[in-house]
Amino acid sequence: MRHFALHPRAALLLAAAGTVLAGTIAVAQQPGGLFTRAQVAAGRSAYAEQCAACHQSDLAGATDAPALTGASFNAVWGKRAVAALYSKIHASMPYGRGASLDDATYDAIVAYILYANGAPAGDTPLDRKATTLLGAVASGKPPADAFADPQATAATGAPAGSTASQEAQIGGAKESAPANGPGGAAAPATSAGFAAPGQKVKYADPGRFVLPSKPGLSLKGAIADYRPVTDAMLRDPPPGDWLMFRRNYQGWSYSPLAQIDTGNVAKLQLKWMWSMPENGTMEDTPIVHDGIMYMWGVGNVIQALDARDGELLWENRLGPFPTSAGPGPSSVETRAMGLWGTNLYVNTPEGWVYALDARSGEEVWKTHITDEKPGVGRSTGGLIIIKGKVIVGMTNCGRKGTPDHCYISAYDAATGKRDWTFTTVALTGQPGGDSWGALPDDERKGSETWIAGTYDPALDTTYWGTAQGKPWRRDERGSATGATDYANSTLALDPGTGKLRWWFNHAPGETFDLDEVFERVLVDHGESKSLFTIGKAGILWQLDRRDGKFLGATETVFQNVFTRIDPVTGRPSYRDDVVKQQSDQWLASCPGPEGGHNWQAMSYHQPSDALVIPLSQSCVLMLGNGSQVYYEMPGTGGQLGRLSAYRARDRAPLWTVQQRAPFLTSVVSTAGNLAFVGDFDRVFRAVDVRTGETLWKTRLGTTVQGFPVSFAVDGRQYVAVTTALGGGSPQLKPGTMLTEVHRPITGYAVYVFGLPEEK
Ligand code: HEC
Repeated sequence: MRHFALHPRAALLLAAAGTVLAGTIAVAQQPGGLFTRAQVAAGRSAYAEQCAACHQSDLAGATDAPALTGASFNAVWGKRAVAALYSKIHASMPYGRGASLDDATYDAIVAYILYANGAPAGDTPLDRKATTLLGAVASGKPPADAFADPQATAATGAPAGSTASQEAQIGGAKESAPANGPGGAAAPATSAGFAAPGQKVKYADPGRFVLPSKPGLSLKGAIADYRPVTDAMLRDPPPGDWLMFRRNYQGWSYSPLAQIDTGNVAKLQLKWMWSMPENGTMEDTPIVHDGIMYMWGVGNVIQALDARDGELLWENRLGPFPTSAGPGPSSVETRAMGLWGTNLYVNTPEGWVYALDARSGEEVWKTHITDEKPGVGRSTGGLIIIKGKVIVGMTNCGRKGTPDHCYISAYDAATGKRDWTFTTVALTGQPGGDSWGALPDDERKGSETWIAGTYDPALDTTYWGTAQGKPWRRDERGSATGATDYANSTLALDPGTGKLRWWFNHAPGETFDLDEVFERVLVDHGESKSLFTIGKAGILWQLDRRDGKFLGATETVFQNVFTRIDPVTGRPSYRDDVVKQQSDQWLASCPGPEGGHNWQAMSYHQPSDALVIPLSQSCVLMLGNGSQVYYEMPGTGGQLGRLSAYRARDRAPLWTVQQRAPFLTSVVSTAGNLAFVGDFDRVFRAVDVRTGETLWKTRLGTTVQGFPVSFAVDGRQYVAVTTALGGGSPQLKPGTMLTEVHRPITGYAVYVFGLPEEK
């Protein structure tokens, strides 16, 4: 997930405004100018053809491609020479194709960018070596005619549908990676991957898809003899069922089914597949109960399918539907639904919690997590149901300039009435409340919950991870060197009241978008009760889940962010240049925000005490304006994808396999000693959980993304997995590094595999 929203830039605005504006007033009347009008005209169409797909036609930037105008651009580039801008663009733009245009085109594009930043045109053509500082000629404020109407540009520059513009659009916009298959169509307006409150989302290409428009119960179900889901079933799920996110309360994603095993998995075959709604983001967990599979699809299209053959039993299109074609950002999906009683519970990315009748699909109740305050309160991480309460997290909340905070909240499963909320930043007077420097409570932002929590019924405690404080850059957040509790923390809450039992901050004062928000896995060894988690820094943490005491930490992928982790307290120390960071400074971060680990949750294979963990290996150079340049993690030979197993007891490494394409699904392990995982390059595979050796693999429609599960109907074991696109990191991040991988932009589906039927 990349979720730093507008803050880096918004914050820079203040810093930049003074200096740059002063410069403008002085030079606006200056005669001459550094380039000609003809160059601006030529640059305008060349920009539309070569650059706009990523940086947008108004230069505002999208996802990884930073803004080329405005305050954030000027804060960095105002202090640099025209020659430096020229050389940056010539050397590396269009992204991945530096020096591919002719010199006159580069001159023209640079002229146009200067013009769009308020620099006046004159009589002399651009001097590529000019030492004039941008801040001395350009205000960052575009003149009225700066941005071409795309239609008009298409006529003069790249005609719509021309090979060049299609390449740019398909290849670039969303993932900032030319020739990288999908991603071109749906580029949100901000670099964060989602729109700010009230902001209109912009897309590079509205496309020609016919998007669904009619919400409601399109097929009413009549599932007879439905067995209500009880608390006892949630505590000890029937072997053939997958009733919740990670199958059990402890978050294992382990199936006790053993019909498919290391000996016969090579015979695995497709039983059925079902296409899911396209145009958006899907990272779903199929939920299965007594042979009925419940699926969440883009646009909150909820479906019940016969898990034996894929027949549709009911469909409720809750909406809202995507308004544009192509993959969506990280803010428009839901990772898992849940079952309790006769209801199916859904938390939608728009912040609604629904109870639907699991038998018919009809709505029972709906409640908004923020009472529908406009623009705040999304919920994408799935949910957990504990003793009749539906507990959900919140995302895209608590941003600078808004009055809200992020919280975890619980709803009565029978009525939808909100029961409690727990605010995930420590306020003045609360434990940890002094860890935000001098920041007033209103400015303590961030700490979202992107993944639903887990639960220990014996300790009656629910465990949740939180993301970093926002803005995520230390120098912009204003919290000085404070730890910013309860961000980046494991929270242990009483599920009945929402009261905090303890917390442990894994990355105090985080600054690189390396949050520690992902899964919490609960494992017992004799008397000891551990909690395992791993965040973007790739450190596998072990805590005592009774009191949050640090038990140990193990580095998985290479990391250079922390210099040391205190062996007693577990408190990490940051590199010195990180602590002293300045906005106008490139800083290296290994791993980068793709995450050494991300939402692709690990599995705990109980028989071998192994944690099987998807990892990613990439690093980033980061600039204060949000510019990120990805590079290979040292020592990996370009193997972005890594799957590793660690023995839970002592976190000892067991095995590692590496490959070029990163893994984009979580892991499910089974009593057949298998682990299933899918990747960016469309491969879904089964590995021997004891060695990592691939025993079976197949190629699917597009990127294998989501949370695979295993279930049984009529005595037969199946494995289900989804293919889909969309999402923030790590879906976007390999884009700039994996340019040889071509993926279709469509192909959202669920696939179900099983063994051949014996005659
Ligand atoms: C495929 C997407 C893509 C295309 C096409 C593209 N860029 Fe970029 N651009 C990026 C990304 C990603 C970055 C950030 C990484 C970097 O700085 O190299 C970037 C960075 C930049 C920067 C540095 C901004 C900063 O503040 O550091 C400039 C200037 C720039 N691009 C100009 C251009 C121009 C001009 C074109 C067209 C000739 C272009 N880009 C085409 C993706 C793209």
